[in-house]
Amino acid sequence: MPRCRTVHRCRDCGATSPKWVGRCGTCAAWGSLVEEVEELAAPPARADRALVRAEPITEVAPGQWQPTATGLPELDRVLGGGLVPGSVTLLGGEPGIGKSTLVLEAAGTLAAAGVRTLYVSAEESAAQVRARAERLGVLHPELWLVATGQLPEVLDVMADVAPAVTVVDSVQMLTDPDLGSAAGSVAQVREGAQRLVAEAKATGTAVVLVGHVTKDGALAGPRLLEHVVDTVLSFEGDRHHALRLLRAVKHRYGATGDLGVFEMTGRGVSGVADPSRLFLADRRPGIPGSVVVPVLQGHRPLLVEIQALVAPSLPGQPRRSAQGVDGGRLNLLLAVLDKRVGLSLADAEVYVSAVGGADAGGPATDAGIVLALASARSGVALPADLVACAEVGLGGELRQVVQLPRRLAEAARLGFTRAIVAASDAIDVPGLAVQPAATVEQALQLATGPAPRLPPRALPRSGARERRSTS
Ligand code: TYD
Ligand code: MG
Repeated sequence: MPRCRTVHRCRDCGATSPKWVGRCGTCAAWGSLVEEVEELAAPPARADRALVRAEPITEVAPGQWQPTATGLPELDRVLGGGLVPGSVTLLGGEPGIGKSTLVLEAAGTLAAAGVRTLYVSAEESAAQVRARAERLGVLHPELWLVATGQLPEVLDVMADVAPAVTVVDSVQMLTDPDLGSAAGSVAQVREGAQRLVAEAKATGTAVVLVGHVTKDGALAGPRLLEHVVDTVLSFEGDRHHALRLLRAVKHRYGATGDLGVFEMTGRGVSGVADPSRLFLADRRPGIPGSVVVPVLQGHRPLLVEIQALVAPSLPGQPRRSAQGVDGGRLNLLLAVLDKRVGLSLADAEVYVSAVGGADAGGPATDAGIVLALASARSGVALPADLVACAEVGLGGELRQVVQLPRRLAEAARLGFTRAIVAASDAIDVPGLAVQPAATVEQALQLATGPAPRLPPRALPRSGARERRSTS
């Protein structure tokens, strides 16, 4: 008779508590604890344990990690080259964001490159997946398909097909009939993931698990699995926009800084090699309240248009709306404009947005927001070839930002010729007149003042001139 104990486990992060509480003590999620009965295995007697020895680190044989490229360049960029054999990758994201589309496209592309790939569909029927693969143009006989959510069946099929890559969509729908609890419960999801991890390590198949993340935590959250898997990818985006961002939250085989940019199209997700152009595609110069800001997404500089609109307000509390920028930050910048520059918008409705569903939430967007607000208020458009990049302090001073050279190089590449930066951040960038400003007031004067003289451009590399002329 095995010994059992009752614990209360958080559906979100997997932490346990001996008694039920309304809020998880580890991740602070509300109402996420569920009761679970845990079997306690008796520890093996000392004599039964295999002898384990440590060795000097220099004696350990180095691992051979040769990633297999998926053939989707934006995905490979985030993975640092591709999927490592024997590794387990968890792809998390909200329902409907495009996870199944992305993994099926990757699976089909791998198959077409001769990599035997198994797609386990636990949510959709085989016919549905086939129809989607056809629509995505990735129907290939090396892509093997099974529609089941039963863990023993999945393991049997894996042994039968012996794939180099296995995709399981989704891990929340995996069930092991031997475990009493329902599909999607913490125990089932954890058990399913752990068995697949063991299988990956034993056979060398690279496993990709799809996991839904919901804001209300109704399903066992992929955070629960983060420590079990090698790599955690997060697929994000605003469902009302086509743009999708893929980032590595955890990666045992490489850096986590890089960002993949995709666009949701009628024929699947397509990688966006030049996201700055995408964000600026619909930009109309000469509109008051618009300025471009070079933000960093991971290590990648992106140019994003910030738009501000200032409208008369009805009596009462005027509306403030921030999309893609931090709402708290917007209030702070409005206060700085009021107190340090004497530009009050207390009587007006204020809308600020980063267009195209971009996330421009960092402090480097501050200077752009204040310039856009001042321009929207005055009705005078800012120069179309201007970018702004500085943090704004409470004293109205401009402060330096991280990785300015990368950001400004991207601006210069896309044909911008003026950049307003913090006085302490003055740098030389070929082709860009960098205008340092100590305060918000100075920045406003520079932005509306005469165009500065351009520094000489470095000799363009072959092709550079041609590319720029199209922007
Ligand atoms: P899906 O990959 O099923 O999302 P998830 O697996 O994350 O739940 O994709 C969901 C949405 O993507 C769906 O609303 C339709 C859209 N979509 C496209 O825009 N283009 C496509 O080619 C496909 C297959 C889906
Ligand atoms: Mg899906």
